[in-house]
Parts: sequence; C-alpha cells; structure tokens
Amino acid sequence: MPVATATEQALEIKPLHPLFGAEIIGLDLREPLDDETFAKVRDAFNNYSVLLFRRQDITDDQHVAFSRRFGELEETGFAIAAPNPYIYRLANVDDQGNVLAMDAVKRTFLEVNARWHTDSSFRAIPAMASILSGKEVPEGEGETCFASMRVAYKAMPEGRKKSLEGMRAIHSYAYSVSLFGEVGVTQEEKDAVPPVEHPMVRTHAPTGEKSLYVSGHIESIVGMPVEEGRLLAKELIDWCTRPEYVYTHRWQRHDLVMWDNRCVLHRATSVPSKQKRIMHRTTIAGEGPVV
Ligand SMILES: [Fe+2]
Repeated sequence: MPVATATEQALEIKPLHPLFGAEIIGLDLREPLDDETFAKVRDAFNNYSVLLFRRQDITDDQHVAFSRRFGELEETGFAIAAPNPYIYRLANVDDQGNVLAMDAVKRTFLEVNARWHTDSSFRAIPAMASILSGKEVPEGEGETCFASMRVAYKAMPEGRKKSLEGMRAIHSYAYSVSLFGEVGVTQEEKDAVPPVEHPMVRTHAPTGEKSLYVSGHIESIVGMPVEEGRLLAKELIDWCTRPEYVYTHRWQRHDLVMWDNRCVLHRATSVPSKQKRIMHRTTIAGEGPVV
C-alpha cells in the first residue's frame, strides 16, 4: 500500500484497490492546473500507478493539454485515429455511429486489447503513460483491468528475482497483431515499429523501485528457444495478474483514467456487441530507453 506523503493531503486521494490505484477527487481537468496542484497529481501518479478522475467532460484539446503536462505525446499513426493527431480513438462504432458488426475487421483490431499488455512496449522508447477518457461507456461489460508489475515484482521470491536479472525480451507489434489474423493494420504500419529488445526487470525512475516489464507484445526472450520464451512471458504475466492483484475499472461516462505503462499491465475485458464503447486516449512518450 503506497504511503501518503505530506503533499497529498491537500487533495482527496481515495485508494481504488489495496495494492495500487487511487481516485483523485476535487479537480476540474478542463482548466489548467497550477504547478503545485499538478505536482501533487504527478506524485500520486508515481506512487499509485493508476489514477481515476470522475466527471471530466473534456474536449480532445483539453485532454491533450492536461496530458502534455506530463511530457511529450506520441502521435497516433495507426488505423484508428481521431482528427486530433494526439488522440487515439478506440470505438466499437462505424463512421455513422452504428455499433460494428460482429465480423468487422475494426472489431478484431479492438480485440487485440483484450490481451494483457503495456502500451507501446514494442517501441524502442515505450510509452510512459496513457490517459483514457470514457466518452460512451457500456454497462456491465467493456471494463478495463489493471495489474501492477511493481507489486508483482516485490512479491516474488528472491531466487526468482535473481533468475530474471539481465534477461531481455523482444517485443513486436507485428507479432501481437498477427495472433488475431486480419486486423486492418497495414504492412507499412508494422514496418514503422520493428521488433525491439527491453529488459524484463526495469527500474521505475520516480520511485527507484524495481518492476517486472512484461507485455502481450513479447514475441520471444533473448537466448531462449521461442516457445520456451513465450511460456516464460506468459508465466510472468499470469503471476502479475492473479485475481487478487487486479483492479477492474467499471467505467462511468466521462471517467478519465491514467496509468503508468512503465509498471502497469492492462486489458479490456470485451468489445461490446450491442452497447457503444467510445474512448479517447492520449499516450505520453517515455523519456528514454528502458533501464
Ligand atoms: Fe492498451
């Protein structure tokens, strides 16, 4: 359980789960935050890994402006983009606003998010954070689940931690989308992000704590036969995502949820077949290679 620091007292911070995650109460993110308030939000983010802000009916521009306070943003180059180049639109509706047919390619694209992953781990400099705004949210389905790899690492037996020291995994976007067949991602989009290597244990810079760093984008593990490496990656993801370690977010309209991709796994539980689910996401780029 993260310890509340003195700077957090001014904001109301309500834990979401015994191990990580907090709701921040009392802020209107349509307005720019003063530096002191922003520093408190950033501290809470670094400590709790997942933050929830309820009732934030924000425009894309306000969403981008808030996100920029945390760092440079990744531009959206993939198949599902909104007009703002920094907004990644995840929606199970077509351009006319109708819920996608069950066999729509775009639906399969969304289903890729049902695997536990951390955003952009397939990039040489992976994402630091993602900020997701619930524009239209379904009832009773389409939840987002989170698991802390920092908590999972801390809970590992020392011998197990030692065995992972120095190990590196290869993350590949082309591999993870290939598991779903045709998802409407072009070869050019896949070529733009060739496979990359990252350590399997990384240091979470703001806290200095170590964290596992595994993701559904892992194609193989350096120095291991491919299948064996995939089994190890799966075993570690299973370790991180034991039910008692998972916070499941049940969306309310205009929730804004942000998570720390350096140490948090997430997945969407389903792509609803009848109810609309429209989410807008910004992605904050990492500051450098994973260490
Ligand atoms: Fe994601």
